[in-house]
Amino acid sequence: MAKEASVMAKSVSKKASAGKKSAATKKASGKKALVVYESMFGNTEKVAHAIGEGLSASLEVEVVEVSEAPVEPGPDVTLVVAGGPTHAFGMTREETRADAIELGAEHGAREFGLREWIDRLPARHGGPSLATFDTRSLGRRRMPGSAARAAARAARRHGYDEAAPAESFFVADTDGPLVPGELERATDWGRDLIALVKVTAKETRH
Ligand SMILES: Cc1cc2nc3c(=O)[nH]c(=O)nc-3n(C[C@H](O)[C@H](O)[C@H](O)COP(=O)(O)O)c2cc1C
Repeated sequence: MAKEASVMAKSVSKKASAGKKSAATKKASGKKALVVYESMFGNTEKVAHAIGEGLSASLEVEVVEVSEAPVEPGPDVTLVVAGGPTHAFGMTREETRADAIELGAEHGAREFGLREWIDRLPARHGGPSLATFDTRSLGRRRMPGSAARAAARAARRHGYDEAAPAESFFVADTDGPLVPGELERATDWGRDLIALVKVTAKETRH
């Protein structure tokens, strides 16, 4: 079952979204979640797909890399979940992405990341809820700073309220791997988000 959900979430991910969308991913509600991720070494990408798997229990899910993500999600998008790696206590910057590339990262782009995507978001009037996540080093767990919290603060300036508290998932070292159990925790977090979004929608409807 979990495997099946994973396939469904992936079927509308970056590659498939360019072309056809599987009818199997259409939910009766017609509501959609857009999972936007930045990833330099590939760990946050894995977390994004795991979150998508959890969300796919009741929403159609699209998982997209940040440089391909729309800044104006369509009217069918009820929830945006955005995340990236924590660099230098917050969201990545061009310089920190360059550092990651220097260390061998091959997944992300030096020029564009979550920070730049949020900067481009138009002011929200209604529209989808937002939740943020990040990955961080386990060894720096007690240190301050989280890309997810920074992203939530930045998105708030564009009128986005948080549907849920920002969440961190941990990697063992700079380039990974993810700490055992983190992908399962990400799937559970995605599944649990749905209930929070429903509550938020009820509370904000006037
Ligand atoms: C330049 C740089 C700065 C970093 N700064 C932090 C930090 O302040 N706190 C932390 O917990 N991890 C830090 N890390 C570790 C990253 O969070 C880790 O590389 C990331 O979670 C891996 O995700 P990715 O594979 O999606 O890139 C840093 C990594 C790099 C390359």
